[in-house]
Amino acid sequence: MKLKRVLPFAKQLLMSTIVPGDTVVDATAGNGHDTLFLAELVGEHGHVYAFDIQTEAIQATTKRLEEANKLEIATLVQDGHENLHLYIQQEVSAAIFNLGYLPGSNHGIITRGHSTKQAIESLLPLLKVGGIIVLVVYQGHQGGKEEKEIIIEYVQSLSQSFVHVLSYQFLNQQNDPPFIIAIEKMKE
Ligand SMILES: C[S@@+](CC[C@H](N)C(=O)[O-])C[C@H]1O[C@@H](n2cnc3c(N)ncnc32)[C@H](O)[C@@H]1O
Repeated sequence: MKLKRVLPFAKQLLMSTIVPGDTVVDATAGNGHDTLFLAELVGEHGHVYAFDIQTEAIQATTKRLEEANKLEIATLVQDGHENLHLYIQQEVSAAIFNLGYLPGSNHGIITRGHSTKQAIESLLPLLKVGGIIVLVVYQGHQGGKEEKEIIIEYVQSLSQSFVHVLSYQFLNQQNDPPFIIAIEKMKE
């Protein structure tokens, strides 16, 4: 299969950007799968900042990192990613947003377009040139389409001299499949 599925493609973008020692962001920690993936990529000299608004998610992510012996290279923050600039001052090489709701949890607690947009706005000045922000956008749940529209309108407005914005989407899949938006910083 030549066309990678959405999640493997998101991981490939992160793998091709992140090198050991980098500082990176998981904007939606959830059950911690992406946080652990990032921790493995940055290695013992790097750092991962992971955000989630739910106690349950921070606990699950803490446990996952602890079990993998990676907790000391992560800062887990129980706050919205729209506030990430309050916690991160250094240059970041990559960030992942896995949007929507936490699987197996309250489907009413979802990421929202306006706060996702604010988080991207806060991240762009911290992102190094050549760095990447990857968003996995879900549109099948209630509130998903609204979030998608806000994000698309925002990223389309970003100047192409500063960032390149890619959409990666299967157009013939049923039931509103997730898709990727990737933002690569080209210039300060
Ligand atoms: C699809 S899940 C993330 C899955 C996760 N990346 C994993 O590997 O398990 C989305 C998460 O975003 C969180 N969330 C919702 N609004 C948020 C916000 N404003 N800031 C940070 N996290 C938020 C939810 O609590 C939920 O855990």
